Amino acid sequence: MKRRGIPGAGPLRGEPIVPVVVLHDAADAHPLADALVAGGIRCAEITLRTPAGIEAIRALRDRDDILVGAGTVVDPDQVDAVVEAGAAFAVSPGFDADVVDRCAERGLPIVPGVATASDIQAALRRGLRYLKLFPAGLVGGLAAVRAFAGPFPDVRFLPSGGVSAANAAEYLADPAVFAVSGSWMVPVDALRAGDWDAVERLSRAAQT
Ligand code: 3PG
Repeated sequence: MKRRGIPGAGPLRGEPIVPVVVLHDAADAHPLADALVAGGIRCAEITLRTPAGIEAIRALRDRDDILVGAGTVVDPDQVDAVVEAGAAFAVSPGFDADVVDRCAERGLPIVPGVATASDIQAALRRGLRYLKLFPAGLVGGLAAVRAFAGPFPDVRFLPSGGVSAANAAEYLADPAVFAVSGSWMVPVDALRAGDWDAVERLSRAAQT
């Protein structure tokens, strides 16, 4: 798969595929990370949708083979918590100025979610141009990326929501896309079952 990201640049440091992870047990953090890395994925967004999220981020903070960030960051206080846990970046489903401003104060790179031109303008006013397009499939998929790229040529998108093995490469081939994210290589059932072979297999397949 063609790597879109500029290595070393942007909040994800050039990683093109970001698994959106929902862990129910922080003890699964290392086996999960091992499976992702074995499958060729070197980045993960651990969501705060479960109480285990923060502990999982903390557990992985010293690994140098995978870039670990926090997902579903929707409150400024969560920014403080994930900074203290060692997150390398934050992702939000939507644009929240308070969350973005707290990230700036704490020096934490954030990829806020956008779904409209107004969201994008709000992000640009805060100096952010790497933005999560969410829910990408519902807001128009690649057609939306291309429509937004007209008035916002400097913005680079992280499409998320409805991205899959079937369409990831097509998204990544668009110059306005810097990475894609989603849960297709970390299905909830596989995580609950500890089926790390499945995660590794799906991760490897995500890059073909
Ligand atoms: C999310 O934040 O839930 C992501 O966008 C993942 O969406 P998906 O489950 O459709 O991949």
